[in-house]
Amino acid sequence: MKIFVDSANLNDIEEALKRGFVSGVTTNPTLVAREEKGNFSERIRSIIALIRKYVSDIPLSVEVFSSSPAEMIRQAESFVAAFNYPALHVKVPIGWDELAVIRELKQRGIRVNCTCCMSFTQALLAARAGADYVSLFYGRIRDHGTDPAIVVRQVRAAFAEDGVGAQIIVGSIRKAEDVTEALVAGAHIVTVPPKFFRELVSHPKTDEVVGQFLADFQTWMR
Ligand code: E4P
Repeated sequence: MKIFVDSANLNDIEEALKRGFVSGVTTNPTLVAREEKGNFSERIRSIIALIRKYVSDIPLSVEVFSSSPAEMIRQAESFVAAFNYPALHVKVPIGWDELAVIRELKQRGIRVNCTCCMSFTQALLAARAGADYVSLFYGRIRDHGTDPAIVVRQVRAAFAEDGVGAQIIVGSIRKAEDVTEALVAGAHIVTVPPKFFRELVSHPKTDEVVGQFLADFQTWMR
């Protein structure tokens, strides 16, 4: 079970990297667009520099920003050339034409995170096309009226049954509880928006007992 950071914000990524629990970083065009307007490649290079400041080359997902299969392939190749980052995973959204893009990129030796998956069959076909990761969108699956934990469980069972090597990343986290639910359901990885990190390590009873320990010891020390 691994935690990735779901962000393109340099400060948020660094605060997480400092704490050692990060096993990867995922971005997408909307996450990039939330940041100060600037040069896309420079933003990705800055994320890579941050990663390398704290840890070895952990997986970094960068998404193509075109709906044209040919352009997706060109962009993927340009990411590989521009970033020279061995753990780069190119994000390609699931779709009929995109399955051929995934197959082509894998034949070119490019790692793929097939993203925007909302169903069992999307995840299965993406994995069969060669995706290294399939990204299931937990919150959006729930928005559509389906229990996302069931989808995660079904995909994990199918991958195990068939010996599929792809790993399940769960994204689209809407609340801290989704992280536990997704991991318990079988997600290999959950990619988490930084705004949830503090909540994931907080508990009122922890605060209570730490306060008690310190107070008791101070009393004893007087
Ligand atoms: C994973 O990296 C996804 O791109 C991301 O978690 C999607 O989140 P959203 O459904 O809130 O846009």
